[in-house]
Amino acid sequence: MSWYPLVMNLLVTGGAGFIGSHFVLRHKEQFPDDLIVVLDKLTYAGNKAFIEPVLNRIRFVQGDIADVELVSQLILRYEIDKIVNFAAETHVDRSIKNAVPFIHTNIVGVQALIEVCKAAPAVRLLHISTDEVYGDIGDDDPPCSVGRALFPSSPYAATKASGEMLLLAAMRTHSLKIAITRCTNNYGPHQADEKFIPTIVRHAIKNEQIPVYGSGMNKRDWLYVTDHTDALEVILKTDWAFWDNDVPGVHKNHPQGSGRTFNISADDEWQNIDVAKMILKILGKPEELIHFVADRLGHDWRYALDSSNIRKLGWKPKISFEDGLKATVEWYRKKA
Ligand SMILES: NC(=O)c1ccc[n+]([C@@H]2O[C@H](COP(=O)([O-])OP(=O)(O)OC[C@H]3O[C@@H](n4cnc5c(N)ncnc54)[C@H](O)[C@@H]3O)[C@@H](O)[C@H]2O)c1
Repeated sequence: MSWYPLVMNLLVTGGAGFIGSHFVLRHKEQFPDDLIVVLDKLTYAGNKAFIEPVLNRIRFVQGDIADVELVSQLILRYEIDKIVNFAAETHVDRSIKNAVPFIHTNIVGVQALIEVCKAAPAVRLLHISTDEVYGDIGDDDPPCSVGRALFPSSPYAATKASGEMLLLAAMRTHSLKIAITRCTNNYGPHQADEKFIPTIVRHAIKNEQIPVYGSGMNKRDWLYVTDHTDALEVILKTDWAFWDNDVPGVHKNHPQGSGRTFNISADDEWQNIDVAKMILKILGKPEELIHFVADRLGHDWRYALDSSNIRKLGWKPKISFEDGLKATVEWYRKKA
């Protein structure tokens, strides 16, 4: 099953964001001979400083994935053989206020990458999606498997699900070489300030009230960011021939059943309130700082994934939630 070209030429879109930057740093360290071209629009969530340690060993281009001409030029100029797409609008609360930028990047931008691949069909596209496409599940429900129908709750999740639908159609109609990963909540350094863990740390350090939505009992499944990027490396290294062939699966001839869609999860579920308390304990701050605020509209109750297909390829998470959280809190504490 294992086949790996000696050198890869990668286009990493959104490579200056939270997860993308970890992927770039780690990949360059592990595979120094690979060419990495980062294409990033540098929205509020992107920061070139995150990839500063490798900037002189990669190419960085500021631009939009929806710009078909630009992306096509990069593919030709750098002889790109794989695109890893992290570029996205990602914050649920922002999508509730205004979904337009989400439609642009998460749908129009994804279709632009498909157009690029149609003109360069040898290029493989690894697209990063999210567990939020499934919508939420109840406390007693089994974890979602990749064949489950998608019921997105937020405009963010709906645009991610829409992007996936376009990709599935492109696999089937244009026989493009695409794989999709859906991962759980990531945590670690480099995340935008407005996300859950950075928000708690920021407020706690200043002894300010910490806003927690609703009852705080919603559950999230947490994955340390480098465990996520390691899972992506496993997929990149796996024999791409299996992406090219029709492998009988859950739904015959359907890409979702044929091993091209992967759930990624560490099976580490925690209630939001308990995560907030753990962070306060690490920082030596009182739990009284926690302040419940009106629930997020359409707030999903619980996410959980069956990640057996990526585990069959040999991946498993290495970082425990306790260790990962300590390292994460320390990073945001120093940054504050
Ligand atoms: N963070 C999580 O917990 C999580 C969980 C599951 C899935 N994901 C998915 O992983 C991917 C990366 O998430 P993240 O948390 O690193 O996001 P992020 O918001 O931290 O970073 C997104 C990056 O994409 C760039 N970008 C945005 N629009 C662009 C465009 N049109 N063209 C080029 N670049 C653009 C931004 O500048 C930024 O650098 C996303 O697809 C997201 O849906 C994230």
